[in-house]
Amino acid sequence: MKATAVAPANIALIKYWGKRDIPRNLPAVGSISITLRDLLTRTSVEFSPEFKADQLRLDGEAAPESQRARVSRFLDRIRAWANFSHPARVVSRNNFPTGAGLASSASGFAALTLAATAAAGLELPPEKLSELARLGSGSAPRSLYGGFVEMKLGAHPDGRDAVAIPLFPPEHLDISMLIAITTRQQKKIGSTEGMERTARTSPYYRAWIETGPADLAEMRRALAQRDFAKIGELAEYSCLKMHGLAFSARPGLIYWNPATIAVMQAVRELHYSGIPAYFTIDAGPQVKVLTLPKHTPEIEALISALPGVERVISTGLGEGARLIDDQSTTPEEP
Ligand code: DP6
Repeated sequence: MKATAVAPANIALIKYWGKRDIPRNLPAVGSISITLRDLLTRTSVEFSPEFKADQLRLDGEAAPESQRARVSRFLDRIRAWANFSHPARVVSRNNFPTGAGLASSASGFAALTLAATAAAGLELPPEKLSELARLGSGSAPRSLYGGFVEMKLGAHPDGRDAVAIPLFPPEHLDISMLIAITTRQQKKIGSTEGMERTARTSPYYRAWIETGPADLAEMRRALAQRDFAKIGELAEYSCLKMHGLAFSARPGLIYWNPATIAVMQAVRELHYSGIPAYFTIDAGPQVKVLTLPKHTPEIEALISALPGVERVISTGLGEGARLIDDQSTTPEEP
């Protein structure tokens, strides 16, 4: 009763922010993401009647109780479906900094979904895997697939159609992504809490929900046409719209630091000088820069030299989550 999976991080081009049903973790808006080739979580799950309680090791250490409890609740659902109650040992490792706005919950829950269902002997259809991953984290179903992925808003109250679907494979458009790490500190307000506060207090929340479908439709079109300039422009728009919304919560959510803004401004300068470069930012201070492969070295050199940028990770698009041999090793940090 043991299995191991690897899942990639993903970055939303059209952002998810807000839930329409908190217990079911149903998104209030659909989202579109790209799956990253080199930022990976590797997770092993073993169920055994010999274990006394669920254990979670994260990056080589016992995980904090809050995270262990979140994983334990997630495993309860799998145990209920598989009809047993054995505790689990979960060992998970990221090859990138955890909890600083680099989508570790997405890759983490996608890997956990695949490894835990396989270890429990469950063979589930894709929509059930999506549902399970979503219960762990709203962005996690997107990491199940490679390339360009849409997380459907869905219409059904129980969320059965709020699932991820692959839009285009990684080869559809050769995009390169540079991630400027501006701090390795964990953020103070996580996405879940930030979204709840925004929904409760922002006067702009309704407009965010109402304009979501048009943004998704435009992005689907731009992707189908491989129109990189349009894709980049829409990604920046959705990012700034999401952060504008978060600023308007009470108290406002500020995920940026001075280096975040320095990178955004540098990317804008590049763009004005005719170089295809666009930024997007999640609930954290790191800036993800979208560009085309031939411009990557020049942009990497430029943003690496900005004050406050600790390092830059370069990646492209890749495949979705998959089960692997327990013995195989995970690629090193990019
Ligand atoms: C800003 O998926 O982390 O990265 O469903 O509460 O776990 P929960 O939230 P999470 O939110 C991700 C928010 C975002 C935008 C995005 O990835 O779409």
